[in-house]
Amino acid sequence: MFKNKKGLVLSLTVASSILLATGCGSTESSSTDSGKGKDSDLVAVGATIYKFDDNFMSYVRRAMETAADGKVNLMLNDSQNDQAKQVEQVDTLIAKGAKSLAINLVDPKAAQTIIDKAKVKDIPVIFFNKEPDASVLKGYEKAYYVGTTSSESGILQGELIAKAWEANKEKWDKNGDGKLQYVLLKGEPGHPDAEARTKYVVDTVKEKGIEVDELALDTGMWDAMKATEKMDAWIAKYNESIEFVIANNDGMALGAIASLEKAGYFSGDKFMPVVGVDAIPEALEMIEKGKMVGSVLNDAKNQGAATVQLAANAANGKDVLEGTEWKLDDSKAVRVPYIEITKDNIQIGKDAYK
Ligand code: BGC
Ligand code: CA
Repeated sequence: MFKNKKGLVLSLTVASSILLATGCGSTESSSTDSGKGKDSDLVAVGATIYKFDDNFMSYVRRAMETAADGKVNLMLNDSQNDQAKQVEQVDTLIAKGAKSLAINLVDPKAAQTIIDKAKVKDIPVIFFNKEPDASVLKGYEKAYYVGTTSSESGILQGELIAKAWEANKEKWDKNGDGKLQYVLLKGEPGHPDAEARTKYVVDTVKEKGIEVDELALDTGMWDAMKATEKMDAWIAKYNESIEFVIANNDGMALGAIASLEKAGYFSGDKFMPVVGVDAIPEALEMIEKGKMVGSVLNDAKNQGAATVQLAANAANGKDVLEGTEWKLDDSKAVRVPYIEITKDNIQIGKDAYK
């Protein structure tokens, strides 16, 4: 859906602001009327997204709105990356009559604060995307999580890297030392996905028998623009020594590619392998163009849909799984699987974000 040519980072920002234009100027948006009746006739679900200006979350948000259409009155808030603001929003949502809450925390450690507020009114809470500590979830019978198994994305990304490296190491091992020299763009520190991906991707590559050297590792906060800045600095510092760019998400992978392009990569035979996670449409485009080796599908559509389905059931006093095919694990979590994506199975990524 985003037709990027040059100036990728800029167009990404523009594209996401277009996507978010409905919420422009206000911090709340509701699902639109479906024809089946006014939203206000439907049971109210209060929801927050940690910030609308997050590429991946904008897809989750869309999936939530689609799933809510005609079924629940989804009161959706942009927490603008501010935990204090989110707590206020939760107060307001409860005051407005929300029968359940769907919360994408700003700070994964703030789950207890939200639970404390919901518990007083006996309101169920479905956390999504940022996984709270298992002990906190256990402490409130009506708390659930919808997301993924974070480590899985790191393992799949590591396997993808190992396969690609083995197949191309003649060319990609530029200094011919047999080791893989990488730089790693980490997501938000403390975010379970960022921590697990960072650990498991490297562990997996090593387990596959590939020796690695970490040239640099720093956070790009999931953000394309920040990743471009980091990558600019790393290219200036390490230049030809970098043999692989590993990013915890596609947003940052795309930011790194923008930087690499400025430095003359991806033209002639100057190449750099780059991998990400999410398999968002902009990244799929890069994979098709050969500018990204691959990604790992983080299924925004199903996570968004599952979140609303559980929240709708909870709001109606039903078993959260009623009428769905989801399963809860021991920590009361629905975990949507990740899938490795390369050129060979790119259609899976395209279908997931349709
Ligand atoms: C996604 C990132 C996103 C983050 C937001 C992760 O699961 O892979 O792209 O920025 O969630 O919390
Ligand atoms: Ca090397």
